[in-house]
Amino acid sequence: MSSTTKNTIADAPVATANKALEWVKDGMTLGLGTGRAAEAFVRALGDRVRDGLDVSGVPTSERTAKLAEELNIPLLTLEEAGHIDVCFDGADEVDPNLDVIKGYGGAHVREKIVAASSSKLIILVGVEKVVDVLGARGKLPVEVLPFGEALCRESLRRLDCEPARRIDKAGNAVISDNGNLILDCKIAPIENAPELERAILDIPGVLGTGLFIAMADAVIIQDGDAVEVRER
Ligand code: A5P
Repeated sequence: MSSTTKNTIADAPVATANKALEWVKDGMTLGLGTGRAAEAFVRALGDRVRDGLDVSGVPTSERTAKLAEELNIPLLTLEEAGHIDVCFDGADEVDPNLDVIKGYGGAHVREKIVAASSSKLIILVGVEKVVDVLGARGKLPVEVLPFGEALCRESLRRLDCEPARRIDKAGNAVISDNGNLILDCKIAPIENAPELERAILDIPGVLGTGLFIAMADAVIIQDGDAVEVRER
């Protein structure tokens, strides 16, 4: 099998995707993340499947499911899979403990469910996502039930997380694959991420935050031509 993929997309983080393939073995069930880095991985995986690799994928979004179907990667629902060997996904921030913020692409609720169903979570990022403290980029996505939006907004404000409903280019509210709203919370660098996570999850109507604490087993970081692997 070749160690590179021909199926590249412009500007895609192909080096991290190819490195991630080292964790993939015949017969595995894989979690397939969402976003640019995850898509590069799915494309690289598609090349291996075409060459005879026998794996199944559990997608974290409709968008990833569509791409995987186009690449003839066999897909399973979470129920059908039962257990996932390794989940591969991107991230928006990674701190020195390998804790992560995700969800700038709005798929973080399904991403967290798939990651939590997996024996391993491998995160693929460019070096620009590496931060000293989570919250450094100033945004934490929170998915909320539309019925509970007003209460969620007020409660998030009290936690110093100023919420803004995510809006698409046409000015409409972004609706997640689960039929919910995404509130992008303006945040300062987070002093205690597990405490903030618990406080936000306590708000009725909140379905999930982009905080992935103590979930990633390894992070693959692309910096120019160099690829570094950090393991927990
Ligand atoms: C999707 O909801 C996100 O969690 C993405 O995985 C994350 O935003 C990283 O995406 P990119 O690889 O596109 O930056």
